[in-house]
Amino acid sequence: MDETMKGRVCLVTGATQGIGRETAHALAARGARVTIVGRDPARGQAVVDEIRAATGNPAVELLVADLSSLASVRALAAEVRKRHDKLHVLVNNAGAIFTRREVTVDGLERTFALNHLAYFVLTELLVDVIRASAPARIVNVASGAHSRGRVHFEDLQSEKHYNGMLVYCTSKLENLYFTYELARRLAGSGVTVNAAHPGPVATGWGHNTPGFFNVLVTLGKPFLRTPKKGAETLIYLASSPEVEGVSGRYFFNCRAKRSSRRSYDEAAARRLWEMTEAITRGPSPAPAAPST
Ligand SMILES: NC(=O)c1ccc[n+]([C@@H]2O[C@H](COP(=O)([O-])OP(=O)(O)OC[C@H]3O[C@@H](n4cnc5c(N)ncnc54)[C@H](OP(=O)(O)O)[C@@H]3O)[C@@H](O)[C@H]2O)c1
Repeated sequence: MDETMKGRVCLVTGATQGIGRETAHALAARGARVTIVGRDPARGQAVVDEIRAATGNPAVELLVADLSSLASVRALAAEVRKRHDKLHVLVNNAGAIFTRREVTVDGLERTFALNHLAYFVLTELLVDVIRASAPARIVNVASGAHSRGRVHFEDLQSEKHYNGMLVYCTSKLENLYFTYELARRLAGSGVTVNAAHPGPVATGWGHNTPGFFNVLVTLGKPFLRTPKKGAETLIYLASSPEVEGVSGRYFFNCRAKRSSRRSYDEAAARRLWEMTEAITRGPSPAPAAPST
């Protein structure tokens, strides 16, 4: 075990498989205290046991949460705060694509809730602990797919029109709006915020949903990166001294690169921030919309 992350407390969502699992594994191998988040207790505990055994690091734990539920995200944040008074690295990674439009327990479109709202709310509820742990880092897993996204502010829940791929792309653009806006708000705090594109990776992505995406990723598997390769940029952003102090950037293959022109629209990023706050405030985040 190398000890470069010893004493650092890290939280990785979506760490039961794919890129998140590799990231949690690598951070544990560098000596960090790692909390992984998964929604399935048995699958999550199996990953904890596997990482502990492979790295020899006993400081790996599981917290169970369904990140598509706002109540569950809030409970997760409360539990993290109860267990840890420091949080040096938050990796917002859990995400998925859905062929057909689905609605969460909060009445929200599922891609938006999981891929965007969970990043936003978990970060918001932990940001004071992260600030108090500075130097600290937030890594948001986005995607090159963001370049095809477009936020329809008048239809954030995709009620008027739903195309699974485009809604996914939009959620990844929302990850960039969130990253850049949060970086502006945290400037000077010692907390950096960056977005990562892992590249096309053979993971569980697309397997959760029936139909086209499932077939696409199954047929494409030989041409995709391994999860280990896909996780490299996340691990780099979470742990490398090379990016100490670097914030508000988009990384691919461990290099900063420009994201789409649209993703730098500051007015859109602020507008999304304010609308997201409005949705997530209060006991009833959003009324279930009548289906058309
Ligand atoms: N794979 C790619 O080619 C690719 C490319 C660009 C970006 N990305 C991004 O990379 C991130 C990780 O994806 P991946 O490729 O590693 O996919 P994955 O293998 O399907 O992993 C997704 C992770 O998210 C978790 N998750 C899904 N829904 C959840 C929920 N409601 N509550 C809590 N956890 C939930 C999954 O848990 P379960 O084990 O319970 O399902 C799993 O641990 C995503 O943000 C994705 O958009 C992936």
